[in-house]
Amino acid sequence: MAKNGIVIHYLRTAMEKEIVLSGIRPTGFLHLGNYFGAMRNYVRMQDEFNCYFFVANWHSLTTHPDTKTLQESVLRVVAENIACGLDPEKVSLYVQSDVPEIAELYLYLNMLAYKGELEKTTTFKDKVRMQPENVNAGLLTYPVLQAADILIHRAVKVPVGKDQEQNLEMARNFAERFNHRYGETFPLPYAFNYNSELVKIMGLDGNGKMSKSENQMTTLFLADEDELIRKKVMKAKTDQGPLTPNSVKPDYIQNLFTLMGLVSSADTVKKFEDDFNNSSDGNCIIRYGDMKKQLAEDMVQFINPIRNKAADLQNNKDLLLKIIHQGADKARTSASATLTTVRKAVGMEYL
Ligand code: TRP
Repeated sequence: MAKNGIVIHYLRTAMEKEIVLSGIRPTGFLHLGNYFGAMRNYVRMQDEFNCYFFVANWHSLTTHPDTKTLQESVLRVVAENIACGLDPEKVSLYVQSDVPEIAELYLYLNMLAYKGELEKTTTFKDKVRMQPENVNAGLLTYPVLQAADILIHRAVKVPVGKDQEQNLEMARNFAERFNHRYGETFPLPYAFNYNSELVKIMGLDGNGKMSKSENQMTTLFLADEDELIRKKVMKAKTDQGPLTPNSVKPDYIQNLFTLMGLVSSADTVKKFEDDFNNSSDGNCIIRYGDMKKQLAEDMVQFINPIRNKAADLQNNKDLLLKIIHQGADKARTSASATLTTVRKAVGMEYL
Protein backbone atom coordinates (compact mmCIF):
# COMPACT_ATOMS: atom_id res chain seq x y z
CA MET A 1 0.00 0.00 0.00
CA ALA A 2 2.68 2.43 1.11
CA LYS A 3 4.83 1.36 -1.82
CA ASN A 4 1.98 1.87 -4.28
CA GLY A 5 1.41 5.27 -2.77
CA ILE A 6 5.01 6.21 -3.45
CA VAL A 7 4.86 4.97 -7.03
CA ILE A 8 1.64 6.86 -7.66
CA HIS A 9 3.14 9.96 -6.11
CA TYR A 10 6.17 9.60 -8.38
CA LEU A 11 4.02 9.14 -11.47
CA ARG A 12 1.90 12.10 -10.56
CA THR A 13 4.85 14.45 -10.10
CA ALA A 14 6.35 13.20 -13.37
CA MET A 15 3.04 13.89 -15.07
CA GLU A 16 2.53 17.28 -13.51
CA LYS A 17 5.89 18.53 -14.65
CA GLU A 18 5.82 20.21 -18.02
CA ILE A 19 7.41 18.28 -20.84
CA VAL A 20 10.65 19.57 -22.30
CA LEU A 21 12.20 18.12 -25.44
CA SER A 22 15.18 18.93 -27.60
CA GLY A 23 17.09 17.26 -30.39
CA ILE A 24 20.83 17.34 -30.92
CA ARG A 25 22.25 16.85 -34.40
CA PRO A 26 25.22 14.47 -34.35
CA THR A 27 27.46 16.58 -36.54
CA GLY A 28 31.05 17.00 -35.42
CA PHE A 29 32.40 17.64 -31.95
CA LEU A 30 30.57 19.70 -29.34
CA HIS A 31 32.17 23.01 -28.38
CA LEU A 32 32.00 25.68 -25.72
CA GLY A 33 29.24 27.52 -27.57
CA ASN A 34 27.08 24.36 -27.46
CA TYR A 35 27.84 23.97 -23.77
CA PHE A 36 26.84 27.46 -22.68
CA GLY A 37 24.14 27.88 -25.34
CA ALA A 38 22.39 24.56 -24.82
CA MET A 39 23.77 21.81 -22.62
CA ARG A 40 24.14 23.89 -19.47
CA ASN A 41 20.46 24.76 -19.77
CA TYR A 42 19.43 21.15 -20.35
CA VAL A 43 21.24 20.22 -17.15
CA ARG A 44 19.33 22.86 -15.27
CA MET A 45 16.01 21.79 -16.79
CA GLN A 46 16.40 18.15 -15.80
CA ASP A 47 15.36 18.85 -12.21
CA GLU A 48 12.48 21.15 -13.05
CA PHE A 49 10.82 19.40 -15.96
CA ASN A 50 10.03 16.03 -17.43
CA CYS A 51 12.81 16.01 -20.04
CA TYR A 52 13.43 14.17 -23.29
CA PHE A 53 16.72 14.76 -25.08
CA PHE A 54 17.66 12.80 -28.14
CA VAL A 55 20.24 12.52 -30.89
CA ALA A 56 18.62 13.32 -34.25
CA ASN A 57 20.32 10.69 -36.42
CA TRP A 58 17.42 10.36 -38.87
CA HIS A 59 17.68 14.05 -39.60
CA SER A 60 21.37 13.55 -40.41
CA LEU A 61 20.51 11.15 -43.22
CA THR A 62 19.18 14.08 -45.27
CA THR A 63 22.77 14.89 -46.14
CA HIS A 64 23.94 11.27 -46.70
CA PRO A 65 26.73 11.11 -44.13
CA ASP A 66 29.24 8.27 -43.95
CA THR A 67 27.62 5.41 -42.00
CA LYS A 68 30.51 4.68 -39.67
CA THR A 69 31.20 8.34 -38.93
CA LEU A 70 27.52 8.88 -38.13
CA GLN A 71 27.48 6.00 -35.64
CA GLU A 72 30.58 7.29 -33.90
CA SER A 73 29.17 10.80 -33.75
CA VAL A 74 25.92 9.59 -32.18
CA LEU A 75 27.73 7.84 -29.34
CA ARG A 76 30.14 10.72 -28.85
CA VAL A 77 27.32 13.24 -28.56
CA VAL A 78 25.60 11.06 -25.97
CA ALA A 79 28.85 10.69 -23.99
CA GLU A 80 29.59 14.41 -24.17
CA ASN A 81 26.13 15.36 -22.96
CA ILE A 82 26.42 13.04 -19.97
CA ALA A 83 29.91 14.36 -19.27
CA CYS A 84 28.41 17.86 -19.14
CA GLY A 85 26.02 16.81 -16.40
CA LEU A 86 22.97 15.35 -18.10
CA ASP A 87 21.78 12.53 -15.87
CA PRO A 88 20.27 9.57 -17.76
CA GLU A 89 18.41 8.61 -14.57
CA LYS A 90 16.61 11.95 -14.51
CA VAL A 91 15.93 12.48 -18.21
CA SER A 92 15.19 10.28 -21.14
CA LEU A 93 18.33 10.41 -23.26
CA TYR A 94 17.83 8.42 -26.44
CA VAL A 95 18.66 8.04 -30.09
CA GLN A 96 15.87 9.00 -32.50
CA SER A 97 16.11 5.82 -34.59
CA ASP A 98 15.48 3.69 -31.49
CA VAL A 99 11.93 5.09 -31.30
CA PRO A 100 10.06 3.91 -34.43
CA GLU A 101 6.83 5.53 -33.18
CA ILE A 102 8.28 8.86 -34.34
CA ALA A 103 8.42 7.58 -37.92
CA GLU A 104 4.76 6.61 -37.89
CA LEU A 105 3.69 9.98 -36.56
CA TYR A 106 5.88 11.59 -39.24
CA LEU A 107 3.85 9.68 -41.84
CA TYR A 108 0.52 11.06 -40.57
CA LEU A 109 1.88 14.60 -40.24
CA ASN A 110 3.24 14.44 -43.79
CA MET A 111 -0.38 14.28 -45.02
CA LEU A 112 -0.98 17.66 -43.38
CA ALA A 113 2.17 19.34 -44.64
CA TYR A 114 2.05 21.19 -47.94
CA LYS A 115 4.77 21.33 -50.57
CA GLY A 116 4.49 25.09 -50.85
CA GLU A 117 5.07 25.83 -47.17
CA LEU A 118 7.91 23.31 -46.94
CA GLU A 119 9.68 24.82 -49.93
CA LYS A 120 9.47 28.24 -48.34
CA THR A 121 11.39 27.40 -45.15
CA THR A 122 14.73 29.14 -44.77
CA THR A 123 16.66 26.01 -43.82
CA PHE A 124 15.37 24.21 -46.91
CA LYS A 125 16.26 27.09 -49.21
CA ASP A 126 19.74 27.27 -47.65
CA LYS A 127 20.28 23.55 -48.20
CA VAL A 128 19.11 23.79 -51.82
CA ARG A 129 21.71 26.47 -52.36
CA MET A 130 24.44 24.52 -50.55
CA GLN A 131 23.79 21.05 -52.00
CA PRO A 132 21.78 21.45 -55.23
CA GLU A 133 22.77 17.91 -56.29
CA ASN A 134 20.96 16.33 -53.30
CA VAL A 135 17.56 17.97 -52.82
CA ASN A 136 15.78 14.88 -51.50
CA ALA A 137 12.27 14.53 -50.06
CA GLY A 138 13.69 13.99 -46.56
CA LEU A 139 15.26 17.40 -46.74
CA LEU A 140 11.98 18.95 -47.82
CA THR A 141 10.10 17.30 -44.96
CA TYR A 142 12.78 17.92 -42.31
CA PRO A 143 10.41 20.20 -40.35
CA VAL A 144 7.71 17.49 -40.39
CA LEU A 145 10.07 14.99 -38.80
CA GLN A 146 11.07 17.61 -36.26
CA ALA A 147 7.39 18.20 -35.46
CA ALA A 148 6.92 14.45 -34.98
CA ASP A 149 9.92 14.41 -32.58
CA ILE A 150 8.23 17.02 -30.44
CA LEU A 151 4.57 16.01 -30.67
CA ILE A 152 5.22 12.31 -30.02
CA HIS A 153 5.83 13.23 -26.35
CA ARG A 154 3.34 16.13 -26.35
CA ALA A 155 6.22 18.37 -25.39
CA VAL A 156 5.37 22.03 -24.82
CA LYS A 157 8.78 23.51 -24.11
CA VAL A 158 11.53 23.15 -26.68
CA PRO A 159 14.92 24.61 -25.73
CA VAL A 160 16.39 25.73 -29.07
CA GLY A 161 18.21 28.71 -30.54
CA LYS A 162 16.76 31.46 -32.69
CA ASP A 163 17.54 29.56 -35.90
CA GLN A 164 14.90 26.97 -34.96
CA GLU A 165 11.96 29.37 -34.53
CA GLN A 166 10.59 28.68 -37.98
CA ASN A 167 10.67 24.91 -37.49
CA LEU A 168 8.79 25.35 -34.23
CA GLU A 169 6.19 27.54 -35.86
CA MET A 170 5.65 24.79 -38.41
CA ALA A 171 5.34 22.19 -35.65
CA ARG A 172 2.58 24.33 -34.13
CA ASN A 173 0.86 24.60 -37.50
CA PHE A 174 0.92 20.84 -38.05
CA ALA A 175 -0.34 20.23 -34.50
CA GLU A 176 -3.19 22.71 -34.97
CA ARG A 177 -4.18 21.19 -38.30
CA PHE A 178 -4.16 17.74 -36.76
CA ASN A 179 -6.28 18.89 -33.81
CA HIS A 180 -8.69 20.64 -36.15
CA ARG A 181 -9.17 17.66 -38.41
CA TYR A 182 -9.06 14.77 -35.94
CA GLY A 183 -9.92 16.31 -32.59
CA GLU A 184 -7.87 17.86 -29.81
CA THR A 185 -4.75 15.69 -29.52
CA PHE A 186 -1.61 17.79 -29.21
CA PRO A 187 -0.68 20.77 -27.03
CA LEU A 188 1.19 23.48 -28.97
CA PRO A 189 4.97 23.56 -28.48
CA TYR A 190 6.99 26.73 -28.02
CA ALA A 191 10.69 27.60 -27.98
CA PHE A 192 11.92 27.95 -24.44
CA ASN A 193 15.10 29.16 -22.80
CA TYR A 194 16.23 30.76 -19.59
CA ASN A 195 16.37 33.85 -21.74
CA SER A 196 18.36 36.28 -19.69
CA GLU A 197 21.13 33.73 -19.42
CA LEU A 198 21.65 32.78 -23.04
CA VAL A 199 25.23 33.90 -23.48
CA LYS A 200 26.63 34.50 -26.89
CA ILE A 201 30.06 33.03 -27.40
CA MET A 202 32.07 34.20 -30.36
CA GLY A 203 35.04 32.54 -32.00
CA LEU A 204 38.44 33.45 -30.52
CA ASP A 205 39.04 35.84 -33.42
CA GLY A 206 35.86 37.72 -32.49
CA ASN A 207 34.29 36.88 -35.85
CA GLY A 208 30.80 35.44 -35.54
CA LYS A 209 29.53 32.67 -33.29
CA MET A 210 31.85 29.91 -32.13
CA SER A 211 31.03 27.09 -34.56
CA LYS A 212 31.91 23.58 -35.59
CA SER A 213 32.63 24.25 -39.19
CA GLU A 214 34.56 27.52 -39.22
CA ASN A 215 38.25 27.85 -38.37
CA GLN A 216 39.04 25.07 -35.88
CA MET A 217 41.67 27.19 -34.12
CA THR A 218 39.08 29.74 -33.01
CA THR A 219 36.68 27.17 -31.54
CA LEU A 220 37.23 25.45 -28.20
CA PHE A 221 35.98 21.88 -28.36
CA LEU A 222 35.04 19.85 -25.29
CA ALA A 223 37.39 17.15 -26.60
CA ASP A 224 40.45 19.44 -26.95
CA GLU A 225 43.61 18.39 -25.10
CA ASP A 226 45.03 20.77 -22.48
CA GLU A 227 47.92 21.93 -24.66
CA LEU A 228 45.63 22.66 -27.58
CA ILE A 229 43.29 24.68 -25.34
CA ARG A 230 46.26 26.77 -24.17
CA LYS A 231 47.46 27.25 -27.71
CA LYS A 232 44.06 28.38 -28.97
CA VAL A 233 43.47 30.81 -26.12
CA MET A 234 46.97 32.31 -26.44
CA LYS A 235 46.30 32.91 -30.15
CA ALA A 236 43.02 34.74 -29.46
CA LYS A 237 42.82 38.16 -31.05
CA THR A 238 43.74 41.22 -28.92
CA ASP A 239 45.16 44.68 -29.63
CA GLN A 240 47.49 47.30 -28.11
CA GLY A 241 45.03 48.04 -25.28
CA PRO A 242 42.41 50.73 -24.58
CA LEU A 243 43.25 54.35 -25.40
CA THR A 244 40.99 55.95 -22.78
CA PRO A 245 39.85 54.86 -19.31
CA ASN A 246 36.53 52.97 -19.21
CA SER A 247 36.58 52.36 -22.97
CA VAL A 248 33.92 50.35 -24.73
CA LYS A 249 35.42 46.92 -25.34
CA PRO A 250 35.81 45.76 -28.93
CA ASP A 251 33.91 42.49 -29.61
CA TYR A 252 36.98 40.24 -29.49
CA ILE A 253 38.05 41.68 -26.10
CA GLN A 254 34.52 41.51 -24.71
CA ASN A 255 34.46 37.87 -25.77
CA LEU A 256 37.58 37.13 -23.69
CA PHE A 257 35.91 38.76 -20.69
CA THR A 258 32.73 36.78 -21.35
CA LEU A 259 34.70 33.54 -21.42
CA MET A 260 36.52 34.54 -18.26
CA GLY A 261 33.19 35.27 -16.60
CA LEU A 262 32.12 31.72 -17.37
CA VAL A 263 35.18 29.78 -16.27
CA SER A 264 37.23 32.00 -13.91
CA SER A 265 36.62 33.23 -10.38
CA ALA A 266 34.86 36.55 -9.75
CA ASP A 267 38.07 38.02 -8.27
CA THR A 268 40.05 37.19 -11.37
CA VAL A 269 37.47 38.78 -13.64
CA LYS A 270 37.34 41.87 -11.45
CA LYS A 271 41.11 42.29 -11.50
CA PHE A 272 41.23 42.32 -15.30
CA GLU A 273 38.09 44.48 -15.55
CA ASP A 274 39.77 47.05 -13.28
CA ASP A 275 43.02 46.85 -15.22
CA PHE A 276 41.09 47.45 -18.43
CA ASN A 277 39.09 50.36 -17.07
CA ASN A 278 42.15 52.08 -15.62
CA SER A 279 44.17 51.80 -18.82
CA SER A 280 44.70 54.62 -21.28
CA ASP A 281 47.03 55.65 -24.10
CA GLY A 282 50.60 55.57 -22.77
CA ASN A 283 49.44 53.96 -19.52
CA CYS A 284 48.34 50.47 -20.41
CA ILE A 285 47.76 48.53 -17.23
CA ILE A 286 45.95 45.56 -18.66
CA ARG A 287 48.26 42.88 -20.01
CA TYR A 288 46.36 40.77 -22.49
CA GLY A 289 49.16 38.19 -22.46
CA ASP A 290 48.66 37.65 -18.73
CA MET A 291 44.91 37.69 -19.10
CA LYS A 292 45.04 35.00 -21.78
CA LYS A 293 47.43 32.89 -19.71
CA GLN A 294 45.01 33.00 -16.80
CA LEU A 295 42.03 32.32 -19.05
CA ALA A 296 43.87 29.40 -20.66
CA GLU A 297 44.53 27.78 -17.26
CA ASP A 298 40.97 28.27 -16.06
CA MET A 299 39.66 26.96 -19.37
CA VAL A 300 41.82 23.84 -19.03
CA GLN A 301 40.42 23.32 -15.52
CA PHE A 302 36.94 23.64 -16.94
CA ILE A 303 37.23 21.45 -20.04
CA ASN A 304 39.62 18.78 -18.74
CA PRO A 305 37.14 16.91 -16.49
CA ILE A 306 34.43 17.01 -19.16
CA ARG A 307 36.84 15.69 -21.79
CA ASN A 308 38.04 12.90 -19.51
CA LYS A 309 34.56 11.86 -18.45
CA ALA A 310 33.38 11.80 -22.07
CA ALA A 311 36.45 9.76 -23.09
CA ASP A 312 35.91 7.25 -20.27
CA LEU A 313 32.31 6.80 -21.35
CA GLN A 314 33.27 6.36 -24.98
CA ASN A 315 35.69 3.65 -23.92
CA ASN A 316 32.87 1.90 -22.09
CA LYS A 317 30.59 1.13 -24.99
CA ASP A 318 28.55 -1.40 -23.01
CA LEU A 319 27.56 1.26 -20.51
CA LEU A 320 26.80 3.79 -23.25
CA LEU A 321 24.56 1.30 -25.02
CA LYS A 322 22.83 0.45 -21.77
CA ILE A 323 22.14 4.13 -21.20
CA ILE A 324 20.63 4.75 -24.63
CA HIS A 325 18.54 1.58 -24.43
CA GLN A 326 17.17 2.69 -21.10
CA GLY A 327 16.48 6.12 -22.62
CA ALA A 328 14.71 4.51 -25.57
CA ASP A 329 12.54 2.44 -23.20
CA LYS A 330 11.37 5.57 -21.40
CA ALA A 331 10.82 7.40 -24.68
CA ARG A 332 8.87 4.53 -26.21
CA THR A 333 6.54 4.32 -23.24
CA SER A 334 5.56 7.94 -23.75
CA ALA A 335 5.62 7.70 -27.56
CA SER A 336 3.43 4.64 -27.83
CA ALA A 337 0.81 6.19 -25.54
CA THR A 338 0.57 9.19 -27.88
CA LEU A 339 0.56 7.01 -30.96
CA THR A 340 -2.34 4.91 -29.68
CA THR A 341 -4.43 8.07 -29.41
CA VAL A 342 -3.26 9.27 -32.80
CA ARG A 343 -4.06 5.99 -34.57
CA LYS A 344 -7.55 6.03 -33.13
CA ALA A 345 -8.07 9.64 -34.09
CA VAL A 346 -6.93 9.02 -37.67
CA GLY A 347 -9.06 5.87 -37.99
CA MET A 348 -6.25 3.35 -38.19
CA GLU A 349 -7.58 1.10 -35.41
CA TYR A 350 -10.31 -1.35 -36.28
CA LEU A 351 -11.03 -2.80 -32.88
N1 TRP B 1 16.67 20.85 -36.16
C1 TRP B 1 17.40 20.86 -34.93
C2 TRP B 1 18.77 21.49 -35.18
O1 TRP B 1 19.13 21.76 -36.28
C3 TRP B 1 17.57 19.49 -34.34
C4 TRP B 1 16.26 18.87 -34.00
C5 TRP B 1 15.70 17.79 -34.60
C6 TRP B 1 15.38 19.30 -32.97
N2 TRP B 1 14.51 17.51 -34.04
C7 TRP B 1 14.27 18.41 -33.03
C8 TRP B 1 15.39 20.35 -32.05
C9 TRP B 1 13.19 18.55 -32.17
C10 TRP B 1 14.32 20.49 -31.19
C11 TRP B 1 13.22 19.60 -31.26
O2 TRP B 1 19.51 21.69 -34.26
